[in-house]
Amino acid sequence: MTAKKKLVVLTGAGISAESGIRTFRDADGLWENYDVMKVASIDGWYDDPKLVLQFYNERREQLRTAKPNAAHVALAEAQQRYDVHIVTQNVDNLHEAAGSKQVLHLHGELTKVRSTKNPALIYDIGYKSVNWGDTCELGSQLRPHIVWFGEAVPAMDEAVQIAQQADIFAVVGTSMAVYPAASLIYYVPDDCPKFLVDPADVPISGITAIREKASVGVAQMLELIDKL
Ligand code: APR
Repeated sequence: MTAKKKLVVLTGAGISAESGIRTFRDADGLWENYDVMKVASIDGWYDDPKLVLQFYNERREQLRTAKPNAAHVALAEAQQRYDVHIVTQNVDNLHEAAGSKQVLHLHGELTKVRSTKNPALIYDIGYKSVNWGDTCELGSQLRPHIVWFGEAVPAMDEAVQIAQQADIFAVVGTSMAVYPAASLIYYVPDDCPKFLVDPADVPISGITAIREKASVGVAQMLELIDKL
């Protein structure tokens, strides 16, 4: 039996939009009625940590009832035919909920928190809230396990290695506006077929673009990939 081809999929907020989770840049700079820089930057955390904790508590509560949509499910089913690696900018767990096994979170995970003293102390809290005064075992404040603006992206090195080994590369539902995540495309081998699913015109050269919502477009893309 020949080895399965490696299908690497970079996903962004657009893949979860049809699961009821709002994207960042489709609205007017506000995200779920908050100023993104106040709730998703390291400076915002230092300025008003209670607001940041409240914001992520609300996001966790929203995620509790969110369900994977047809796009998440189609990528999970594609594992039967391909060695699928999801590299996601999303902090939700909808790829995992759909059954995807190899998911790398570039920007952290909503269902985890970590120590502000030792970043290696990471705790799985599911959909529970974390409040000011909740501490790690070392006695320091817990913070969301999220990569904020102004912070490094520790998973980027691993993501680059995955992209470099891609046989097929796909981009789904991201404006490609945030770096270093958007630079992943530059590490994909030149001869690797590349696909994009997004209703908007995301400018990436040399890519087969499907201008559809993820729930429809991912299935169309997989049909094209199956014919390669
Ligand atoms: N299906 C597919 N794509 C969609 C859908 C849909 N139903 N609805 C919207 N989109 C597309 C938009 O056209 C846009 O290109 O999803 C993209 C969302 O872009 P952004 O809001 O910029 O989200 P994303 O690219 O994931 O943001 C990257 O920015 O704020 C930070 O850390 C945060 O991970 C996030 C990063």
